[in-house]
Amino acid sequence: MPVNIRGKHFLKLLDYSPAEIRYLLDLAKNFKDMKRAGTPHKYLEGKNIVLLFEKTSTRTRCSFEVAGYDLGMGVTYLDPGSSQMGKKESIADTARVLGRMYDGIEYRGFSQDLVEELAKYAGVPVWNGLTDQFHPTQMLADLLTMEEKFGYLKGLKFTYMGDARNNMGNSLMIACAKMGIHFTACAPKELFPAPELVEKAKAIAAENHCTVTLTEDVNAGTKDADVIYTDIWVSMGEPDEVWEERIRLLRPYQVNAAAMANAKRSAIFMHCLPSFHDTRTTIGAEIAEKFGVPEMEVTDEVFESPQSVVFDEAENRMHTIKAVIYATLC
Ligand code: CP
Ligand code: NVA
Repeated sequence: MPVNIRGKHFLKLLDYSPAEIRYLLDLAKNFKDMKRAGTPHKYLEGKNIVLLFEKTSTRTRCSFEVAGYDLGMGVTYLDPGSSQMGKKESIADTARVLGRMYDGIEYRGFSQDLVEELAKYAGVPVWNGLTDQFHPTQMLADLLTMEEKFGYLKGLKFTYMGDARNNMGNSLMIACAKMGIHFTACAPKELFPAPELVEKAKAIAAENHCTVTLTEDVNAGTKDADVIYTDIWVSMGEPDEVWEERIRLLRPYQVNAAAMANAKRSAIFMHCLPSFHDTRTTIGAEIAEKFGVPEMEVTDEVFESPQSVVFDEAENRMHTIKAVIYATLC
């Protein structure tokens, strides 16, 4: 059956079938080819979208803006604190106001419930640009990048090292299960994903002939992996007080030369970014001084190595977000 997701929200990959995800990846590839060839694609001229950010962003914001402009749309950006939402106006009221003016709404914020509520009342497609629980637009970029590097997705061995119960750990587990990729969360048990989500992921994985594994053992977790993925140890919205414990828990799960050497020789390193791989950021320098950790979730050596595909991933954010906007509005 042909895929048609016009009018559908994009809130988490749990709501999307493998065929719908496949369709979005293929569409993104077409848009990437058009962009590279300089072929204009202003298919959505006359439409307008609004980007609501309650947390900061570089990649997601710029991807939505550039994708919107390339498609010929008007784009409004509302930064953290510059709308009435939450403080003076409820989510439901904000959604109904913006839905009267715009053809689509991007939202980055805190709980998943907020973006789900926005979607319930907006009357136009709502796209999740990251919540504490899920980061679905990042998933499409990551899947596209893996497919570009290996030529296929099904059967790949994917290992996520780090905070496996944050938005990235949750989302990658579901994305892999949907697309037939063997997923391993390699993390301390305190940071394993929630058992209910793991059960869901395992059921989805069984349908797609792949597996979901949780392990605390770095050697077993990284053995023969095709992809090693990590994310920052403390996510946006978490208090500074958690740094000390998080460093203690996650230091053994740093992606370093030994972890990469235990993976396949052809393995790639992935990261959603931003990354603390050196001390050239304010937080990176502060943590180095306070805790004596100059490189956090990944060493600078691995980050800068030929195995690292992090900037391809970052570019693919834009092509995949363009596919989501187009497919849900056209
Ligand atoms: N990966 C990602 O979402 O980056 P930003 O926080 O810069 O949008
Ligand atoms: N887990 C990170 C992802 C950033 C893209 C955060 O939420 O800050």
